[in-house]
Amino acid sequence: MEQGNRFSLMKYGTAVSLSVVLLAYWFRPPAESMLDDRLDTVLSSLLRAESKVGINNARPRVAIGLGGCVDILVDGVSLLSKIGLVPTDQPLHHDYIENADQLAQSFAYFFVPGAAAERFVSNDTLFSLLVEACRELPGNRWSIGGNAPVMAGRMATEGCDVLLGGSFSADFADVLPQHITVAGNMVDEPDIHLILEYPSGAVWGHHTSHRANRYIVHSDDHNPYLASLQDFELKLQDFQPDLLVIGGLQMMDSFPFQLDEREALLSRLGRLLSSSSPRTGVHFEMASFVDEGLMGDLLRLIMPHADSLGMNEQELPNLLSLLRGTNVTVLSDPNPRVATVLDQMRELYRLVNRRHVQANRDSDTNAHTKGRPLTRLHVHTLAFQAMIVTRGSQWKNTMSAVAKASLTANRHVCGSPDIDPSKARLIMDESFSISRQEGSQRIPLEETRPVSCWDEDNYEICVAPVLVCTEVYQTAGGGDNISAAGLVLQI
Ligand SMILES: *[C@@H]1O[C@H](CO)[C@@H](O)[C@H](O)[C@H]1NC(C)=O
Ligand SMILES: *[C@@H]1O[C@H](CO)[C@@H](O)[C@H](O)[C@H]1NC(C)=O
Ligand SMILES: *[C@@H]1O[C@H](CO)[C@@H](O)[C@H](O)[C@H]1NC(C)=O
Repeated sequence: MEQGNRFSLMKYGTAVSLSVVLLAYWFRPPAESMLDDRLDTVLSSLLRAESKVGINNARPRVAIGLGGCVDILVDGVSLLSKIGLVPTDQPLHHDYIENADQLAQSFAYFFVPGAAAERFVSNDTLFSLLVEACRELPGNRWSIGGNAPVMAGRMATEGCDVLLGGSFSADFADVLPQHITVAGNMVDEPDIHLILEYPSGAVWGHHTSHRANRYIVHSDDHNPYLASLQDFELKLQDFQPDLLVIGGLQMMDSFPFQLDEREALLSRLGRLLSSSSPRTGVHFEMASFVDEGLMGDLLRLIMPHADSLGMNEQELPNLLSLLRGTNVTVLSDPNPRVATVLDQMRELYRLVNRRHVQANRDSDTNAHTKGRPLTRLHVHTLAFQAMIVTRGSQWKNTMSAVAKASLTANRHVCGSPDIDPSKARLIMDESFSISRQEGSQRIPLEETRPVSCWDEDNYEICVAPVLVCTEVYQTAGGGDNISAAGLVLQI
């Protein structure tokens, strides 16, 4: 639309008037239809790339943990109005939420840039009040939530047999898709997550959001304790998965654990990962973390055992800051350039693998702590998907996987398996630089070959543009659907 108007302004010179612009729009000015053609071509090329390969195995076996919850999705601004929370003048970061003022400040902090965030609410009265308000809010939606169940759902839909580690209530376990077996105890009252969604341009007082996203609050009882771990461990032995996926550990973030409780839980999970067969790929899905103690434990006990990592544009600089030993980043540019993200990915890949080499060099470390090298790194952003895969590693079909991840982003956010180009927009530039270093190569975005792949060092990099959905149905769960869709073609 913007480009169309600019073109008609040029065409009709100074005589332009509102009616001319409207007329030009009516007749669809050439620039706009060119743009449509470009979108159509990118879409059909991505679809072709996605369907180039099928799933390799008959039915790949994927084990996914841990945790799960009931998501209540509401319009964030409507919810805050309903509980009478006045827009704050002070957007502020809080590690966790103790009262309504902090909720207002924390929401405003992430709402304006449109950055995804997730926070623990330590005040039970406040959380109950929010749940009640959500129940009463017209247009609310309920679904099974949590990283593990969402990834499990996507994997099952794509043709995998799934073992899901999580605690569910009986009625929710019943509505899980076919081909998912649950490992975990039944609970009477499942954990509830409130998903405060907002579209791009949403207004809260004098705050306006710059992109569509969501702010999540929870007050979990089961998930922080990895309640399903024991059963998952047990069933995993017979299941023998091709791929083991771990996510949902952000539910431990800023949670009031007893001394050493968290470390004991994560050590146990770390042992589970390190004892998995070398033939089983291990993927760790990052999330929104602020608790440096927890992040330190993850870095020490969990990540060394993963050969694949998935994350978004916020989580990448967050993890990188931890690896660099600097203060943890809580908010980053929600629309980063390709060059910036690729540089961060290269650094993360290098730092993680350097830690792996160092751990292996230490002769007195036992096999459990040695872990695996990182051979796959997938970063999903609003505008594009990027992946680093080590050459000669077990991960296949990187190009098709990145195309599938990109298409899944649109399918999920628009809430439809069929992509409608009139509800999509390309926001990636017409060419991108592969690094911020001066003199770096630029790669044009070719409509007929939208996924660009090239070799560097000992790895391949692939980048694909996302057809950004303009009529948002849901952002929550997007990262999980996207990550799972990418993995499914690579097993
Ligand atoms: C918890 O939230 C309730 C409801 O907003 C509030 O009245 C109370 O003061 C809060 N408690 C603390 C310790 O902040
Ligand atoms: C890092 O955090 C500490 C403690 O919060 C603070 O004193 C210091 O100024 C921070 N450093 C930077 C570079 O932000
Ligand atoms: C994302 O995953 C959830 C849970 O499996 C599912 O309900 C939803 O339809 C998925 N989105 C897409 C686009 O498949």
